[in-house]
Amino acid sequence: MDKKVDIDWKTLGFDYIKTDLRFISHYKDGKWDEGQLTEDNMLHISEGSTALHYGQQCFEGLKAYRCKDGSINLFRPEENARRMMRSCRRLLMAEYPEDKFIEAVKKVVKANEHWIPPYGTGGSLYIRPFMIGVGDNVGVKPADEYIFSIFVTPVGAYFKGGLTPTNFVVSDYDRAAPVGTGAAKVGGNYAASLLAGKKAKERSFSDAIYLDPATHTKIEEVGAANFFGITKDGWFITPLSPSILPSITKYSLLWLAENRLGLQVREGDVYIDQLDQFAEAGACGTAAVISPIAGIQYGDDFHVFYSETEVGPLTRKLYDELVGIQYGDVEAPTGWITKV
Ligand SMILES: Cc1ncc(COP(=O)(O)O)c(C=O)c1O
Repeated sequence: MDKKVDIDWKTLGFDYIKTDLRFISHYKDGKWDEGQLTEDNMLHISEGSTALHYGQQCFEGLKAYRCKDGSINLFRPEENARRMMRSCRRLLMAEYPEDKFIEAVKKVVKANEHWIPPYGTGGSLYIRPFMIGVGDNVGVKPADEYIFSIFVTPVGAYFKGGLTPTNFVVSDYDRAAPVGTGAAKVGGNYAASLLAGKKAKERSFSDAIYLDPATHTKIEEVGAANFFGITKDGWFITPLSPSILPSITKYSLLWLAENRLGLQVREGDVYIDQLDQFAEAGACGTAAVISPIAGIQYGDDFHVFYSETEVGPLTRKLYDELVGIQYGDVEAPTGWITKV
């Protein structure tokens, strides 16, 4: 922490800031090389790279947190490693092994330690592992060569306002197909969501809500985050579907809701015309953390949950528990924290 960087930590948003070093490894002739840290943030790849034409790429997102005692926490990084391997299998890409993934994450975080926002500022170091299919290709088939890389960038709140409730609008577009790639963290899903997100923001909503692509009756995702609702009779409910990304934050909240807050929990259908059952609702994810949902616009109907301005008490409790664990202030369930 001897090097200093010139950043106003309190006003950090969610934008790319070039940090000192990133990790890069190449896959060729059926194996990964050892990989290395590099100052170069540019990639020089073949014009025939499958990532450029056929979307053969995937990525992850996790964070490093600076604790009160100065140490650095990673939150469940092995879950990101495993999810990335599942994304790779879905797109026929070379898998990057879990132990090497975690080792590389630690290496990059350590090398950019002075970019981690100080404890108490609410910021964190966002970690972006990604993989692309490269090499000289032109036909639609998986590449023989891949690049795996990890960069980091300091971030603050993803949705403006942090724990302030904001409004979302149900989109007419789908982000994924019923038996498509929705459960994999692959760029195509995000490309498909850009227009819906833009239209939502033009109407002053935080982001678009996607319904299930087969029947358009059930909530699936809230922008790049999962949905949860807490019913008036104390159930924590979150959608279950093969076309949503299995959020690590969401599975952590399911556990915390049950084991720390004493709520009943269920993954299941959340019908867009049955929002009255919920006393509180939120969006959750690594970037979003927990963003309380004030209201949802669905056609001409605007449904308000707890309040348009105040965060509900159970949403706040979940937030305090989750964020407390991530920053090392609250005791973590076994295996949830990896020290750098
Ligand atoms: C589409 C989508 N859903 C949900 C999430 C939340 O997942 P996680 O909690 O693992 O970050 C993300 C982002 O990370 C996402 O991009």
